[in-house]
This record gives sequence, C-alpha cells and structure tokens, in this order.
Amino acid sequence: MAQDLMEKIVSLAKRRGFIYPGSEIYGGLAGTWDYGPYGVELKNNIKNLWWRMFVQSRDDVYGMDAAIIMNPKAWEASGHASGFSDPLVECGKCKHRFRADHLEDVTKCPDCGGKLGEARQFNMMFRTSVGALDDGSGTVYLRPETAGGMFVNFKNVLDSLHPSLPFGLGQIGKAFRNEIAPRDFIFRSREFEQMEVEYFVRPDTWAEHFEAWRKAMWEFIAAVGIAKDKVSELEVADGDRAHYSKRTIDFEFEYPFGKKELYGLAYRTDFDLRAHSDTSTKPLTYAEEGEEAFVPHVIEPSFGVDRTVLAVLASAYAEEGEGDNIRVFLKLPPYIAPVKAAVSPLLKNKPELVAKAREVYAALKKEVPQIVWDDNGNIGKRYRRQDEIGTPFCIVIDFDTLGEKPELTDTVTLRHRDTGEQERLTIQDAITRVCEAAMLR
Ligand code: GAP
Repeated sequence: MAQDLMEKIVSLAKRRGFIYPGSEIYGGLAGTWDYGPYGVELKNNIKNLWWRMFVQSRDDVYGMDAAIIMNPKAWEASGHASGFSDPLVECGKCKHRFRADHLEDVTKCPDCGGKLGEARQFNMMFRTSVGALDDGSGTVYLRPETAGGMFVNFKNVLDSLHPSLPFGLGQIGKAFRNEIAPRDFIFRSREFEQMEVEYFVRPDTWAEHFEAWRKAMWEFIAAVGIAKDKVSELEVADGDRAHYSKRTIDFEFEYPFGKKELYGLAYRTDFDLRAHSDTSTKPLTYAEEGEEAFVPHVIEPSFGVDRTVLAVLASAYAEEGEGDNIRVFLKLPPYIAPVKAAVSPLLKNKPELVAKAREVYAALKKEVPQIVWDDNGNIGKRYRRQDEIGTPFCIVIDFDTLGEKPELTDTVTLRHRDTGEQERLTIQDAITRVCEAAMLR
C-alpha cells in the first residue's frame, strides 16, 4: 500500500507538472530533480509561509541571502572540510557504491552479491574552482548547509542593525551534498533547498529557547499541511549527533518508504562562532553596555524544503470512489495549493458565457494571481483535473449568471475540492472567498 502511494505521488508529480527527473531527455542525472509549473508554485508557497512565520512575523529574526560559494576557510573552520563525510563501500564486481551505514551486511553487494571492499570516508562537499587557473589554488565548495553564510555574517548584522540577544538570522537557499546513494524521489538528493534559522542566545538560556523553537516547528508542520499524526520526535543519541551539536531532536515523518528525518532542531553551542572567530581572527562576540564580551550560543531549527514538499504531498493525497470512478484529490491548505481557483464557462461554445467568464477571471486574477482559466472538456473532467493538483475552488459561470433566472444574475457556482459541494454566490463574494482562503495567515 505504502509503495503504491509513493508510486502514485511520483507519477502524479510528473504527469501534472509538479516534479520531473533532472535532465530527463539526457537520461537524467542521479540525485537531481526539476520542479515544473505547479511544483515551483507549491514550493514557493511553502517558502513564503516559512519566511512569513519565522522572519517577517518576528521582531527577533532577520532575513539573509548569502553566497553559495564561500571562502573555503569557512568550511575548514566549521569542520566540514575534514569531517562532513559518509562511509562508502564499493562492490568489487559491479562497482556499485553504497553507504556502509545503510547496509545490513557490509560484506555483500545488495545488487549483485559480489564482495564489498573496505569502508572509506567520502567527503560529501561538491568541489569546484574559482578563477582561470585549475591548479587547485582556487578550490572552493558548494555549501553543504545554508547555516555557514549566517555564522560568517553574525558580526555584519550586529554592526549594522545592533540587535539585542536573543536574535536570529534566517535564510532559504540551495545546499549541495554529493550523496553516495541519492534515493526515494526528492527525499535525498544532491541539490536541495533548506530553510534555516541560526538563533543566537545567552549560554544559560539555551534550554528555554530550544523548547520555544521545538514548539514553533510543530506550528509550522501543522500550518504547512503535514499530517501531525505522521510526525514524531527522535532524541538523537550521543555519538549519532553532528560534530557541532550538544542536543538534537529529529522530527521524523512516516513517508511511504518508512519513518525518516523531516527536520532537525540542534543546540550548536558556541561551536560555530568560536570556530569562525579562531580561524578568521575576528572576534564574534556580544556584549551589552558594561558587560564582558562573550560568544553567544546557537539554537538551529533546520527545515528541508524538498522533504516538506514530499511530506505535504503524502499528507494531502486522497482518493474517493471505486474502480474506474476513483476521484484523486490533494487536500492542500488553500494558501499552499499551487492554483487557488479555476474559472470556467459552463459551455465553451457559447460566446456570451465565455465573455462573462473572462470578466470574472480578469477580476479575480487582479486579486489572486495564482488562478487558471479552464474550459477544456466537460465540467466533470475539469473538476477532476483541478482536484488532482489540489485547486481548492472551481468557479463556474452559467446561464443564470447571465440572468436566465433574474434573481441569480451575476452569481456563480463555487465548487469545493474536498467535499465536491457547490454553493451559489455573487461574483464579488466568490472573489472574496478565494482571496481570504489564499491569503497567508
Ligand atoms: N544546518 C544543519 C543541517 O544541515 P541536516 O540534518 O544535515 O542539518 C537539515 O540537514 C535538513 O536538510 C534535513 O532535516 C532535511 O530536511 C534536509 N536535507 C538534508 N540532506 C538532504 C538531502 N540530501 N536531500 C534533501 N534534503 C536534505
């Protein structure tokens, strides 16, 4: 059943223009995915909700957009150059490579049964070079996490905006990891996006801020449309945590392929600011008037955008009916849905209906840009098509709109995705209804 759900999600995502395999016409490129027209809208809505909740609605978090390529010393300081690696084993026969910690039997190839070699550490940072010379002097890395760009700008923000502790920096952006075994659709890819906050606190207050962020993460999970009953927390044990963390909670989601990490919340102590301060020789400290300078500690809530997309799709996917009569719909929150409403004339070949419907479409589009015009096929087919991409409302203009029943002049039907129910509303009320539902909270 679960495997079946995964296949249905991957197939719907491709068929309906959400997510395609990367560079597909060339046979693809493992670990890369391209977001199509509806996918990019869905992803942008998720990022906008996150930005609204964690940056714009708060007075204590400042937005950032740092460069992806940083001075390589930053990754030496953070420990990624030496330690950001996974154990790799290679099959002597078929040459396939695996992550040793993902295998039950580290001696035998799961693909061909051949003998696996010794595990060796494989650094996951993508390397490239800056400048014209290719002699190694310009080696740089694509960032493996967005966090680094925020730590190195701690002092800049402190000097330009003078925030008081506690305060955070928030950033959304691409991260790159040369994963040994990218898999499970967009769950583990080599190029993905993160939404992260580095929240700087006084050392003795870290536990209370950790709890506050834990709560805030649950609020986001509910708001974005992830089924809360499919999410659970995992206290990451000593020895399993990243090198910089003294406490980590993983938020795990029950994906169709099993329970796996969705988000992470980490107490990074003063590890990063101290390390960057030592390596750059710039003091990354904080002090209020008359106070001795100290290195702030950090709480880091980290969210993967692509894993959010997958968890949202898995939570929203619904089917109703039987046999040939199955209705597939995505129960997305309206403010997350890629399309907020479809506007249709009841019949495509009646110019007066089309003209009125175009008027309604233009009026609504001014208020809510994420709407579509749909006059393809019969009304039933249009509803099915919109259900499948999670469009919460369909607005239909019929002969009553034109005054066939005078009391219904300038009214339309508004059809609801989840129940299939229809109501008759004035054009203005229908527009208001879509606007209110589509607005971010
Ligand atoms: N700054 C902390 C950090 O990067 P992480 O647990 O390695 O911690 C944070 O990554 C989040 O980024 C994960 O919880 C997940 O949502 C997402 N993520 C990590 N690796 C990923 C990958 N290969 N593909 C897709 N998302 C990934």
